[in-house]
Amino acid sequence: MKAVGASYRTPGDPRPLRGSVTVPGDKSISHRALILSALAEGRSSIRGCNLGRDVLSTVGALRALGVGCTVDREAARAEVQGQGWEGMAEPSSVVDAGNSGTTLRLLLGVCAALPVRTVLSGDASLRRRPMRRVVEPLRAMGAVIEGPEGADRPPLSVEGRPLRAVTWRSSVASAQVKSAVLLAALRAEGITSYREPLASRDHTERMLSSAGVRVELGGSRVRLAGGQPIRAMDRTVPGDISSAIFLVVAATLAEGSNLTITDVGLNPSRTGALDVLVRMGADVTIRRRGDVAGEPFGDVQVRAAALRPTSVSPEEVPALIDEIPALAVAAAGAAGTTVFSGAGELRFKESDRIEAMVLGLRAAGVPCRAEEGGLTLTGPSNLEPARIDPHGDHRIALAFAAAGLAGTAAFEIDGWDCTEVSFPRWHEIVSGLRTDGR
Ligand code: S3P
Repeated sequence: MKAVGASYRTPGDPRPLRGSVTVPGDKSISHRALILSALAEGRSSIRGCNLGRDVLSTVGALRALGVGCTVDREAARAEVQGQGWEGMAEPSSVVDAGNSGTTLRLLLGVCAALPVRTVLSGDASLRRRPMRRVVEPLRAMGAVIEGPEGADRPPLSVEGRPLRAVTWRSSVASAQVKSAVLLAALRAEGITSYREPLASRDHTERMLSSAGVRVELGGSRVRLAGGQPIRAMDRTVPGDISSAIFLVVAATLAEGSNLTITDVGLNPSRTGALDVLVRMGADVTIRRRGDVAGEPFGDVQVRAAALRPTSVSPEEVPALIDEIPALAVAAAGAAGTTVFSGAGELRFKESDRIEAMVLGLRAAGVPCRAEEGGLTLTGPSNLEPARIDPHGDHRIALAFAAAGLAGTAAFEIDGWDCTEVSFPRWHEIVSGLRTDGR
């Protein structure tokens, strides 16, 4: 994707990061809170909602389906007037999911069960991403879905039908696919059973349980009986560990740092990157503070530390898939060779993240190599000033912003605007943390 929007020049004079900060709400949980609230009957409110561009795509899509949603970006709050499945209407035009795979895939599951025709599409990046993985199980449940390349790419047209339950074994560990099937299963006749090769993030299962739906869990298998109603409720969304990780990496690398990120989601299906950083020698202390709507959360304190290289194995990948760009920046600061393997799914994200990271790291002088299913890089590198093309991908731009906070090399990150997808207000959040070290 071509860079759009102004570029951002990182400071180039590292300072310790100190103090305490919160990051925007968890994006995955925010999408789900909006969708489940829309499917419930009654008013729900969502506090701490991430209202970056991706989640606003979900808001827009739900409105197009006739759901009343109001958002207050300043207060990070959303209100949804759910009218149940029956209250959803046929959209009058193409539903635009923007850059958001979660919006498109989860709503495919919802629309498959509605007695209407919906066309779902998105931006150029989303229109390149694979959809057959979600189309196939929904077709097996009875949905009629058409689109380019055998319905492997958006725009996808969905004609909802009365659905039947399915027993499905997915070839990919994907929470988006699993969630689409579980949402469709809520309206299907019978018990749906879904299995994946490794367990992906389980926010949908947790949120369904907290909204009164019986979900049977067993490792990488989920079962759910159709016909169960969802309760309208008020929810609080914890901070996004996938955004916090950029600050954790920057504070680890910037000498003299002592930073606490408060109220971060600590769901074990999401915290793999913290485990890997600790294994690399990072000084991370986690204080669990409780649960909100079935999601554990707490504070993460990080002090600067020297890092060792590591190998990240395929089994570890689902719990840190979105954090690999940040971990690669950390690994560039470790003395030795770090290997990420079994991470081929990175090629199907908002950009080909393996290619985008390798190009950016090489531009900054880090010896590294792309593999089919991962990357290998060698540190420690004194990063060189470079111009970075994040390929329109928020996580690539933010990974280099983290590297830029901690090192002496200034990066010119093109198309910085893409960070609005998940991490609006980066500058505001970060500017108060850079200290003069005293
Ligand atoms: C997400 C699931 C993951 C993740 C994505 C968000 C979700 O993707 O990479 O950023 O909210 O369900 P997959 O479902 O493709 O693994």
